[in-house]
Amino acid sequence: MQHDEMFFMRRPWAYEPDCQRPERPDDAFGFGTQALHAGFRPITGMGRFNTFALPIVPSMTYPYEQFDKIPYPVYGRTKTPTTSVLEERLAVLEGGEACVTAGSGSQALFSLLFTLCRPGDNIVTSLMTFGEGYKQAATIMPERCGVQFRFVLDPEDPRCWDEMIDSRTKLVWVETPSNPTLFVTDIRALAEVAHSRGVPLMVDNTTATAALQKPIALGADIILLSITKFLAGNATVLGGAIIGPEALTEDIRWNTTEFVGCTMQPFDSWLTVQYLETLPLRMAKHSANAQALAEHLRAHPKVSRVNYTGLPEHPQHELANRQMKAHGGMLSFVVRGGIPAVRSVMDSLQLIIHAVTFGTSRTIVMHPRTITHEHMTQEERDRAGIDDGLIRLSVGLEDVEDLIADLDQALAKA
Ligand SMILES: Cc1ncc(COP(=O)(O)O)c(C=O)c1O
Repeated sequence: MQHDEMFFMRRPWAYEPDCQRPERPDDAFGFGTQALHAGFRPITGMGRFNTFALPIVPSMTYPYEQFDKIPYPVYGRTKTPTTSVLEERLAVLEGGEACVTAGSGSQALFSLLFTLCRPGDNIVTSLMTFGEGYKQAATIMPERCGVQFRFVLDPEDPRCWDEMIDSRTKLVWVETPSNPTLFVTDIRALAEVAHSRGVPLMVDNTTATAALQKPIALGADIILLSITKFLAGNATVLGGAIIGPEALTEDIRWNTTEFVGCTMQPFDSWLTVQYLETLPLRMAKHSANAQALAEHLRAHPKVSRVNYTGLPEHPQHELANRQMKAHGGMLSFVVRGGIPAVRSVMDSLQLIIHAVTFGTSRTIVMHPRTITHEHMTQEERDRAGIDDGLIRLSVGLEDVEDLIADLDQALAKA
């Protein structure tokens, strides 16, 4: 028996345009109801173990009832009960068939690429991606796995994506809106291009979340999520997920996750489920605060550019209005005076915190040029809009007047 036959019992996943996903009862509910109920109902009839809250099941192994009766889950690397609830909730919220979690968003990306690609295959993407994603694409995957990445240099034009696809292309990967420059891609148009060539489209929905954008409804096949950001809401959880056809998520779970990592831990999954209950409310407030800050900063004399999809001058403002419900909690802006001015502003902030993440309830700033996108060449940074003076602002849930006051006093020192 070949190794392939022994290990890869499930058919490797391929894009099937006509594959229909079965209806789940939770699919009929509105997003706010799904965020509260999908995947778990209170347990009754269990005596002292009746519970309103989702139980945390910390067990990493599961007892056999009989010698030849394999329990499911059987071992914690691939599945645990609490994490299964999170996976089901995320699949419902994104409108996908199934979900598999990972220890981080970066691990989820790695597991997806490792599952789909073999040496000699390629992935088509652009420079408008998060920094660690770019690093996987530009160095780790080509050098260690023999998988090439093709970067579309004019990502606004669907024809440029089409030109990059060939018979060894396994995935088209897009991040929209992108971190940190808020570039928006037309998901429907790109899905048409990818499908016309028989290739699946993966959308990284970390920045918008399903509360604001539903890529699968627009034609995407696969969703990448960093749970670490808005989904878990306050930098207390590290996690990631892939949502898509069950044949794919189970291929990842049993043929990659099983060997190179594990799904999310029960306590982290439980915390995420608690945070998800308020996701729609939080995203509305993040968006309102970010809109107010973007409008304030765009009029500031020390600021030369603001990237926020909610501003009418954003190049894809109309597209963002069409495919997003609101504009989200991330913006970035360029301070006049380059790195010395950035240093002065960031060191002068008193309320806003300097840290590496986004999507937290407390507002955070970060300097992409030195922290997340330092692996890009200068030419690539120029193309991606990562200027020396660019500051990324993850807008939190504070009273917006306090954020404006803090930014104003810090900018006054630049
Ligand atoms: C858009 C996006 N996707 C995925 C990731 C990876 O997530 P994690 O930090 O959980 O590995 C990040 C991280 O910054 C991100 O910005």
